[in-house]
Amino acid sequence: MLSRRVSRLKPSATLTITAKAKELRRRGEDVVSFGAGEPDFDTPEFVKEACFRALREGKTKYAPSAGIPELREAIAEKLLRENGVAYDPSEIVVSAGAKMVLFLIFMALLDEGDEVILLSPYWVTYPEQIRLLGGVPVVVPLSEEEGFVPSAERIAERFSERTKAVILNSPNNPTGALYPKKVLAEIAQLCLERGVFLISDECYEAFVYDGEEFVSVASLSEDVRRITFTVNAFSKTFAMTGWRVGYVACPPEFARVIADLNSQTVSNVTTFAQFGALEALRNPESARYVEAMREEFRRRRDRACELIEEIPGVSVHRPKGAFYLFPNFSTYASKIGGDVRLAQELLEKGKVACVPGSPFGAEGYLRISYALDRESLEKGIERIRSTLEKLD
Ligand SMILES: Cc1ncc(COP(=O)(O)O)c(C=O)c1O
Repeated sequence: MLSRRVSRLKPSATLTITAKAKELRRRGEDVVSFGAGEPDFDTPEFVKEACFRALREGKTKYAPSAGIPELREAIAEKLLRENGVAYDPSEIVVSAGAKMVLFLIFMALLDEGDEVILLSPYWVTYPEQIRLLGGVPVVVPLSEEEGFVPSAERIAERFSERTKAVILNSPNNPTGALYPKKVLAEIAQLCLERGVFLISDECYEAFVYDGEEFVSVASLSEDVRRITFTVNAFSKTFAMTGWRVGYVACPPEFARVIADLNSQTVSNVTTFAQFGALEALRNPESARYVEAMREEFRRRRDRACELIEEIPGVSVHRPKGAFYLFPNFSTYASKIGGDVRLAQELLEKGKVACVPGSPFGAEGYLRISYALDRESLEKGIERIRSTLEKLD
């Protein structure tokens, strides 16, 4: 019999829909997939080269559990240079992508029944990981009218004796919302007053548009830095999702435990992949690479919003970050029995894959990733429009 712990585990909704779309494609169907949670760009050549070099030089053995020292130093330099926050390399641990990093943070932080505040819509993985580790996700709903930006007051209402942490994810998956500095400061102040940790998932920091400012939570003050787990990865910024390199910068007592957890689970992130990641941080070409990707995504965001706004009965909030749109399709979802059914209908009849909003805690919405070429983007939205038109 399966353990009680895994009995309620749900597979990732985003991976499920992309897998379905791939399966249809494999059978020869022409499917447009808006499911992708990854850039359609390739990893920079110079990063691949650094990895080849590491392989040739025999960097093929176990590495330190917390990450190779050069990479931890480079991450500390990056956090200071780009985010204005000073961490010692001993406060940084590298693990197998931000996903594993988050899992290890929850493991280090949560006892049975401890609560973690999530802002909904949330990334699908947070509640699953929290529950797996005996924690309780406590959901604070955000509204489309407020651009999916939270408020400290609303979060404070859900605090209890058991609140251990608040998770922030700005720019956000799935809404693309970017939280203003003032809002972050108010939430951080609340957490400081109440002795609650902050987990700041900053995986989409490179994708911020319209000249808006990205603020790393730990940069707000030294006090805030001391209660914050800054989570980031190479996955999105450098189109390195398959490499599985992510990291956390956090209080040293937690960094030590997270490194120990690494040592008893994955041992270390693939050694030569870490040398690739090191190159991504050190090579001066990186800035240009990231800028080109950001500019292309901005253009696609504008085009996609324009086209979606033309669909009758659908509203879309124009996001300032990430590479997702999160339009409200509730007019159509309610006709057909929910957003999961709507996503199925779109895939089966329209040959277009979107991720339903309910696994993100937002019934009636669909997540549309614009990490695909512009021609497919336009074709896919046209398919959504025409399939909805025929819906009865
Ligand atoms: C908000 C958020 N955090 C973390 C991750 C995981 O990133 P990684 O591939 O580095 O594990 C994702 C990936 O989709 C994400 O959307």
